Formats: sequence, C-alpha cells, structure tokens
Amino acid sequence: MAQRIDVKDLNIYYGDFRAVGDVEMSVEPRSVTAFIGPSGCGKSTFLRTLNRMHEVIPGARVEGRVEIDGVDLYAPDVDPVAVRRQVGMVFQRPNPFPTMSIAENVLAGVRLNNRRMSKGDAQDLVEESLRGANLWNEVKDRLDRPGSGLSGGQQQRLCIARAIAVKPQVLLMDEPCSALDPISTLAIEDLIAELKTDYTIVIVTHNMQQAARVSDRTAFFNLAGQGQPGQLVEIDDTSVIFSAPREQATEDYISGRFG
Ligand SMILES: Nc1ncnc2c1ncn2[C@@H]1O[C@H](COP(=O)(O)OP(=O)(O)OP(=O)(O)O)[C@@H](O)[C@H]1O
Ligand SMILES: [Mg+2]
Repeated sequence: MAQRIDVKDLNIYYGDFRAVGDVEMSVEPRSVTAFIGPSGCGKSTFLRTLNRMHEVIPGARVEGRVEIDGVDLYAPDVDPVAVRRQVGMVFQRPNPFPTMSIAENVLAGVRLNNRRMSKGDAQDLVEESLRGANLWNEVKDRLDRPGSGLSGGQQQRLCIARAIAVKPQVLLMDEPCSALDPISTLAIEDLIAELKTDYTIVIVTHNMQQAARVSDRTAFFNLAGQGQPGQLVEIDDTSVIFSAPREQATEDYISGRFG
C-alpha cells in the first residue's frame, strides 16, 4: 500500500466564494506533513477536501484533482463514503460518542461501514486499535465504561483509535492537540511519530514547535488579502521551512512577525 497524495490545480469554493486557490502539492507515503498559516487562510477547508468532507456543506465544491496513489478522489465513479474510509479524520475537539462505551467507540466507524464481525474479532480489533493509539494500558480494565469518562487527552487518543480501527491509509488531523494539556500533547505527538510507519499523516497546527517536532514536511498557507482566496505559499522539508524558507511571508510568519 503506497498512500501517496497528489493535489493538482485545486480550487475550493463555498458557493461563489473561492476560499482556497490553485493548490499544487504532493505528500509522500508514510510521512507527516504539517499545515501552518494564519487563521482563515483555508487550512481546515483544504484538509477536508482530502477526504471529501468539504462537500457535505451545502453549496461547497471543488475544482481540480486530489489523487491518492494516482486515483482521483473526485472522479465520477468514486464513492465518497469509501474515500472517507480510506482517509480518516481526527478533529480539534475530542468527540467520542458520550453514551457509548470505550470499546463501542473504537468500533463505531467500523460498524457504520457495515462490516459484520464476530465478537472475538471485535475484541481483537478493539485491543489492536487501542494499542495503536497508545491507550490500551490505561483503559483495558474499563472497556465497557463510557468514553466520556476519560480525560481530554485520553478521549483524543480514543478518537484516533476509532479512526485507525477502520484501517485507513491516510490520517488527517485538524489541530488535534489544541484542546489538550502539554503532557497529553506530547503523548499525541509521540503517537504521530509511531503511526507514521503505517500511515500518511497530514496535521494542521498553530503550534510552530509542534510542526517542527512532528513533521517531515511543512506547508505554509497565507491570504493575499481580505476576501482573496487562501493560497499555498510554499511547501518544503520542515527543517528548510524553519531555517531558510524561500518566501519572505513564510519567514515573517514563523518568526512571529504576523499571524
Ligand atoms: N462552512 C463555511 N461556509 C462558508 N465559508 C466558510 C465555511 N467554513 C469556512 N469558511 C471560510 O473559508 C475560509 C477558510 O476557512 P478555514 O476554516 O478553512 O480556515 P483555517 O485556516 O482553518 O482557519 P483557523 O486557523 O482559524 O482554523 C474563511 O474565509 C472562512 O470564513
Ligand atoms: Mg481551521
């Protein structure tokens, strides 16, 4: 399984408003790419086009191509539900289903996808996914208790377990640590470093140190002006973006001169 992403000439709209313009980008398999840039430049919007979550908003649409291993996600014969199974997503606020147990939360995505499985297989998948999310040891004695009883950082790892239980190829994370304390943040960052061996990961973050710590590549997005579409200013190895970016706007942003 490769899991390479190629974005070609992508324009993203909300009705008549072009929110993001002319993005070209490639993401290598089994790497971590960080999206950084000021609020409103379209990081979340762009991220959601990578698993066809954007179009669930009425009037929202894209022009251009998003290819995973050469297959255009927006081709007419592609099923968006299959795309979302292939490209998982973790949101800013941990959002476990509050009335479901920890185990049922892990299985929620799998059940949505209608996969029938035996009780033993389900138990194995719960353990495997929770181990993958570095949460197993903390919850293995209370799998039947509500997911809402966990700490914020544990809930976020539960959401990651839920995302990886469906065995996606790509994992999208939109500011996954912004609601977390520093210890939980480090736990998620460690986890991202481990998950990279199996998944292609794209993470939006406002935290420069986090981008520098977890990512191989960093993409800087910016707005040319009020009402203008957000654009990709540059993407490069993270070490380059944070030491010798090509564009002045990137330098200004990472050194805190604006944004
Ligand atoms: N559902 C929506 N309907 C219409 N416009 C939207 C919608 N969601 C976002 N936008 C607009 O699209 C642009 C990009 O927003 P987006 O949320 O992608 O930015 P962002 O870079 O993720 O910002 P932040 O760092 O604050 O999360 C903004 O102008 C925003 O107002
Ligand atoms: Mg956002």
